[in-house]
Amino acid sequence: MENKLTVMILAAGKGTRMKSALPKGLHRIAGQPMLGHVLAAAETLGADETVAVVGPGMEDVAAYARAFSSAVTIAVQDNQLGTGDAVRAGWEKAGKAPGVVLVVFGDTPLVRAETLSDMVSACGDDVAVVALGFEAANPSGYGRLVLGGDGSLLRIVEQKDATAEEDGIRLCNGGAMAIRSERLGDLLAKLTNDNKAGEYYLTDIVRYARAGGLTCGVVRAPEADIQGVNSRAELASAEAEMQRRLRLRAMEAGVTLLDPGTVYLSMDTQFGEDVIVGQNVVFGPGVSVASGVTIKPFSHLEGARIAQGAEIGPFARIRPGSEIGERVHIGNFVETKKARIAEGAKINHLSYIGDAIVGARSNIGAGTITCNYDGFGKYLTEIGAGAFVGSNTSLVAPVKIGDGAYIGSGSVITREVAENALALERSAQIEKPGWAARFRAARQRKKEGA
Ligand code: UD1
Ligand code: MG
Repeated sequence: MENKLTVMILAAGKGTRMKSALPKGLHRIAGQPMLGHVLAAAETLGADETVAVVGPGMEDVAAYARAFSSAVTIAVQDNQLGTGDAVRAGWEKAGKAPGVVLVVFGDTPLVRAETLSDMVSACGDDVAVVALGFEAANPSGYGRLVLGGDGSLLRIVEQKDATAEEDGIRLCNGGAMAIRSERLGDLLAKLTNDNKAGEYYLTDIVRYARAGGLTCGVVRAPEADIQGVNSRAELASAEAEMQRRLRLRAMEAGVTLLDPGTVYLSMDTQFGEDVIVGQNVVFGPGVSVASGVTIKPFSHLEGARIAQGAEIGPFARIRPGSEIGERVHIGNFVETKKARIAEGAKINHLSYIGDAIVGARSNIGAGTITCNYDGFGKYLTEIGAGAFVGSNTSLVAPVKIGDGAYIGSGSVITREVAENALALERSAQIEKPGWAARFRAARQRKKEGA
């Protein structure tokens, strides 16, 4: 028998408590929209079909899901009538292949793919519905899982509808649910909104499945994995948990974090072995760091590739499009953007290097600035291999410095410099012997009224 996996992501809720113009699913955890976390889980599970259920007008959510994977089907739930209604909207658009439908919430980004995979495996011919359970420290707001004597799931009761006895149950519903697709249509058809919230609850399908003689089960996960994001405070708490995981993952991969709690990572941060990361370093999205790299405290990196043995920081800002070569040194208060810096080059102090190609083993002096922008366009600066750029040089792009050339300190370079030449652009130094002493004496006499 065919056993296809359909992942259905519910993301049509308004997310009112976020108090945001941005739909909830697009708020980021570790640099990735929450919806992306769930889409990534679907990908890991090898979903044959992914359906994202969005609300009317949520074009940006739909566009994000499509950009993530062209295989995603978008279903629009016209009115937010509850999770059961959302699944109904998704099911209408789905291919309805025999197998398992795994429903996940777009606002529960910490659920692990392994847990979801366990749910899918537990859902078979004899177990038609598998819920995700967790022991809640404070069950307030969650649906309660009511189990039978044999440990199977009898029903899920929303808190609002719970009896005093059910209210005391601490095993709660994490939201995700695996359902045999051959049963889903019939179960959804039975849903009513005859409850305290007046909503169509997805959770009611457990009761209907039981009444139809089917068995239902539970897969459990730790509470930290289940936490949903409904407010900014919960967003921060989910971020903290994800950072904890990412730091652990980095250390397991052979990275030394000198003070793990102060290092912020993105979902896609990649590390080689023997990388050392100092305190208070932030990795925005799209950074890969090769082995043997040292990143000193208070550096910020985003969209960059750092090659083997490079040293970055302290206080460096590595912006998107930076390709830092092997053994390159980037020092304090240096900003790079869209810059390819070849192996062994040194930019040690107080520089802006943007829209630039910097040759191997060149030395870029303190305070060197590439003047890449004229208010309209961006222009390229090319610096050859082994060049020496003196301190406080302005390189007005587009401009080229040849291999091995020297630039005198304080120059404003606007024209190409040939290889191995010396270029100087500054007025000649003048000197007046004894001037300072005469000046001070004259001023002193004036002050004393002489
Ligand atoms: C739901 C569960 C509850 C569980 C809790 C876990 C139901 C009836 N209740 O409650 O048992 O303990 O999650 O967090 O399922 N959504 C739609 N369309 C809708 C309503 C919701 O797409 O009409 C989406 C939301 O965007 C969200 C998810 O479904 O991603 C959950 O909705 P939410 O309203 O937060 O459900 P809870 O009340 O938290
Ligand atoms: Mg919720």
